[in-house]
Amino acid sequence: MTRGWQITLGEGDPVVALVDLDDAALRPASDAPDATADVAVDVTWSGLNYKDALAFAGNRGVVRSSPLVPGIDVVGTVASSTTPRWAPGDRVLLNGAGAGETRHGGLAERAHLDGGTLVATPRAFTDQQAAGIGTAGFTAMLAVLALERHGVTHGDVLVTGASGGLGAFAIALLARAGFTVTAATGRPEQADRLQHLGATVVLDRVELDRPSRALESQHWVGVIDAVGGPLLATALAQVRQNGVAVACGNAASAALATTVMPFILRGVSLVGVNSSLTARTLREQAWQRLARDLDPAVVDAIARPIALDEARDAAAEVLAGRVAGRLAVRVGEPASAAPATGGVSA
Ligand SMILES: NC(=O)c1ccc[n+]([C@@H]2O[C@H](COP(=O)([O-])OP(=O)(O)OC[C@H]3O[C@@H](n4cnc5c(N)ncnc54)[C@H](OP(=O)(O)O)[C@@H]3O)[C@@H](O)[C@H]2O)c1
Repeated sequence: MTRGWQITLGEGDPVVALVDLDDAALRPASDAPDATADVAVDVTWSGLNYKDALAFAGNRGVVRSSPLVPGIDVVGTVASSTTPRWAPGDRVLLNGAGAGETRHGGLAERAHLDGGTLVATPRAFTDQQAAGIGTAGFTAMLAVLALERHGVTHGDVLVTGASGGLGAFAIALLARAGFTVTAATGRPEQADRLQHLGATVVLDRVELDRPSRALESQHWVGVIDAVGGPLLATALAQVRQNGVAVACGNAASAALATTVMPFILRGVSLVGVNSSLTARTLREQAWQRLARDLDPAVVDAIARPIALDEARDAAAEVLAGRVAGRLAVRVGEPASAAPATGGVSA
């Protein structure tokens, strides 16, 4: 039997329970959109992302299959594989690709996954650190890569939702890449922590969370936005000529009321990131870059470990905006003390 969280949707409130599941219940249904499950993983660590917190609350936009094991991040060791790409003992991780949404995710001791979506866990990180980075750090890396792909390589970058998981990793990665980082936060008491991560300026988010003019003074060569709504609209009005804003999240709002002026007069680009649907080559590129650029000590400073049975209470804290940084969830013990194999060296 496998210990794990299960969310069941019905007519009334969702039923959320930590239960013992048998292996058959952990496999995707044969008629699921992606029923590929050629790799069985002994899960060691997962995470508690904003999306996972929504799943615990029974959000039907996230819980798209019921009953469901939540957890969009999976970190562990291959137990068995029917694809030659992976062998028992390989350290692997997964961010998204339907896990914890349309198929069972990482908050159970065993996961049956599509080997084509897995990435080798970089040797630079322990399993706990890989889960600490999780979707938040992976998405922040994708956002930095998007800026670079659009020719933004130096200058002032604004990060919104700065004290959240995505924001914290974005600050660290941007500072490491040589950008000057302004962190916008609703929690000014986090200023020291954000500066320690690499922010040069910490801005109270009320300065951006307001109606904006079509064009305002130009400040940013780039924006990494986790919140949407008026903050993103104001940030767009402040992007410099040919600058780029990367929309990653909607922690404040999914709405965006803006004008075409930043785009047609300043050549600004608005780029989106969907980490869940990222192609494997870009997943691997992002994790190789994380292994190269992210000091494991920074991960330990951003991510705090919690136990599997604490996940439901922690989810409520995430939704209430009372968690700074990331939560990594300890799910199971490593199957063996075998040395890392198949990892990306860094
Ligand atoms: N596109 C993707 O692939 C992808 C991947 C991961 C996450 N996301 C999304 O990105 C967002 C952030 O994720 P996360 O994991 O970093 O979540 P998180 O740790 O909960 O952080 C969210 C941050 O947003 C800010 N915030 C919350 N409510 C706000 C409000 N009403 N107005 C303005 N700011 C607010 C807070 O930062 P301050 O207290 O510092 O202001 C909070 O710490 C979520 O919407 C998530 O779903 C998207």
